[in-house]
Amino acid sequence: MDYSSIFELRAASYAEASERFHRVREQELLCFAELLCVRPDERVLDVPAGTGLARDYLPSDSTYVALDPNPEFAMRCKKHSCQIVQTSIRQAGFRTGVLDVIGSLTGLHHEARRYEIDSEWFRMLRPGGRLVIMDVSVGTPVAEFLNEFVDQWNTAGHDGVFLDDDDVSALKDCGFEGVDVKDRIYNWSAESEQQMYLFMCSLFGLDMNPSVAAFSKALQALGVSELNGFSVRWQLRSLCAIKPFDSVPYS
Ligand SMILES: C[S@@+](CC[C@H](N)C(=O)[O-])C[C@H]1O[C@@H](n2cnc3c(N)ncnc32)[C@H](O)[C@@H]1O
Repeated sequence: MDYSSIFELRAASYAEASERFHRVREQELLCFAELLCVRPDERVLDVPAGTGLARDYLPSDSTYVALDPNPEFAMRCKKHSCQIVQTSIRQAGFRTGVLDVIGSLTGLHHEARRYEIDSEWFRMLRPGGRLVIMDVSVGTPVAEFLNEFVDQWNTAGHDGVFLDDDDVSALKDCGFEGVDVKDRIYNWSAESEQQMYLFMCSLFGLDMNPSVAAFSKALQALGVSELNGFSVRWQLRSLCAIKPFDSVPYS
C-alpha cells in the first residue's frame, strides 16, 4: 500500500492524536521552528503539513502556507485558518522563486526519488531562500521503532525509506549550498505512560492494539524517563540548505 493510501486510512486518527495531545511533540516543533528561523513578512511553505501544527510556532506576521495531499488534513488546516494547498508534494505548483523558506517535517521518508522533490523545492525558493528537512535517519532507534514495532501493530504496515547520505548528495546536486546535517535528540513528553500509549496508538494507527507490555518494551529500546511525567527519547536528522543568491533563474 502506498503512503497516500495509508494516510487515507490513518489521517483522522493521526490528526486526533496531534490535536488532543498537542504538547507531546512540543520539543520537536520548537526545534523545527528554530531551524526555519522565519522572519516577519517571510513566506514559508510547510510540506507535508499534516494538521498545520507548525503554524503555532512561527511569527504571527509571517505567511504560513500548508501543503498536504490528504483531504482530512486539508480540512483540519482550514479549520485552524491555515492557508492550505491540497495537492501532491511533487506538484506544489508555486511559481519560481516565490518562497522564502520551505520546511518538511517527517514527510519525506515514504517518498522515493527525492532528488525530484528537492529540485522542485529549489526552483520554488527565492535566491537566498532556505530549506529545512527534519526526518528519521537510517539506522537509528526511531527508524527501527517505525519499521519494526509500528510495522507489526499497524495492519497497513510501515516501510519507511529513511534519510541517508544520498539525501545530502541530492541537495548538493540540485544546487543547494551550505548543506548542514545534524542529528537532533530530544523528548516526546506525556503526562504518563498511559497517555503516551494513547497518543502513539492514535498517531501511528496501531489498530492491532499492542499490549502494554509490548509497547513498554519497544519504548525502553528508544529510552524513557519518568522524571516529570513520561518522556521518550526521540531523534530526527535535520538537513538545512540555502539556495545561493547567484543561482541562475529557470522556469
Ligand atoms: C508523518 S505525517 C507528518 C505531517 C506533519 N509534518 C507533522 O509533522 O505532523 C506525514 C504526512 O505525509 C503526507 N503524505 C501523504 N501521502 C504522501 C506521499 N505519498 N508522500 C509524501 N507525503 C505524503 C500525509 O498526508 C501526512 O500529512
